[in-house]
Amino acid sequence: MKKIAIALLAGLAIVSCTKKTETMEQLTDRVFAVAEQQLPLLASGLAPDETPRTFQGDTLENASLTWWCSGFFPGTIWYAYEYTGNEALKALATSEMLKIEDNKNRTDDHDIGFQINCSFGNAYRLTGEESYMDALHTAAHSLVTRYTDKVRAIRSWNNKEYSYPVIIDNMMNLELLLKVGQYYGEQEFVDIANNHAYTTKDNHFREDYSTWHLIDYNPETGVAERKITVQGYVDSSCWARGESWALYGYTMMYEFTGDPEYLAVAEGVARMTLDRLPENGVPYWDYDAAEQLMAGTAPDRSWAGEVDGDSETKVEGEAPEGKYILRDASAAAVVASALIKLSTLTEDAELAAECRAMAETQLRTLASPAYLAEPGTNGGFLLKHSTGHYHGNSEVDVPLTYADYYFLEALLRYQAL
Ligand code: GLY
Repeated sequence: MKKIAIALLAGLAIVSCTKKTETMEQLTDRVFAVAEQQLPLLASGLAPDETPRTFQGDTLENASLTWWCSGFFPGTIWYAYEYTGNEALKALATSEMLKIEDNKNRTDDHDIGFQINCSFGNAYRLTGEESYMDALHTAAHSLVTRYTDKVRAIRSWNNKEYSYPVIIDNMMNLELLLKVGQYYGEQEFVDIANNHAYTTKDNHFREDYSTWHLIDYNPETGVAERKITVQGYVDSSCWARGESWALYGYTMMYEFTGDPEYLAVAEGVARMTLDRLPENGVPYWDYDAAEQLMAGTAPDRSWAGEVDGDSETKVEGEAPEGKYILRDASAAAVVASALIKLSTLTEDAELAAECRAMAETQLRTLASPAYLAEPGTNGGFLLKHSTGHYHGNSEVDVPLTYADYYFLEALLRYQAL
């Protein structure tokens, strides 16, 4: 009798645990239901000449349509439409996308790939509308005006303080060139993307596959003259989002070209990332800053954040009370999406399994109340707790459009596994 009672209790415990564990399908349904409510709310706060930037202190902050992130919001709505089939979202995605179409003509910005590929690229994929592919074509022509064979890379910023700056983020703009080059059979675009990726492979990585944020090249000789950071902690540290762009960028390059050199970089960056991510999968904004702060060896602790701390991120040692190391949900979303893709491309079964397990952890964390907004809050953004540019005191511990974009992309990729 006693044995039967124990067996019954054990059975009940198993049933209740199973009930409590949300499947990834249920989680994905839940997140896209939130997106269906949030994205129209975010759109309702925009003027015709505005794109969302962030939400801080109960205020929606918008940007002009030339903001480097302008493609993410329409792209996020396209992903939400893709999952839900909600025609109102399709109409909203289309109108938000057409607002930014003029950006395809810009030659003063390297992020034209982000802007046009994330919006028009998804629109073409989902609708087959040829005029959207035309927009990608024009944008690719604009982007390659920033390329020179002397450096064999596309120039990033225009700032006068650099000679020929190339940031690791720029790997993300190459998908536009590969897509257009392969579609129209225009090899020049593919060659430029490959040259940029090879130059970056040779100069941006340290031995452990961590990255420098910015390489400043001599525009005449192509020599890498300075290796520095702008958005990371110090020049020698590894800025988390930069590392996530590297992982995503080389995974994408391998997917499009099949060049094993790219796979080797993607796998190296994945191993480094898996090694250094904290348990919940959401990186601190800079891997080295976090490690030094936690060890109490960081030379400067004044910049540790004061917001939304949890015990895991509390700064040890002499740091003032209430200081916490900030995380970057946007980097987690980019990493999750890239790890899922890489798990389908690598032949290393053990690495593939680790990539999937970490991506699932990341998606579960991001879909938890600590990161995913309650409908009707967060200005209409989905995720909280991203870090844009810590040292610039810009977009610190806030929602960001690209966090939402790569989060939904990662969920769709996970579902397709
Ligand atoms: N490309 C800019 C960023 O990742 O902040």
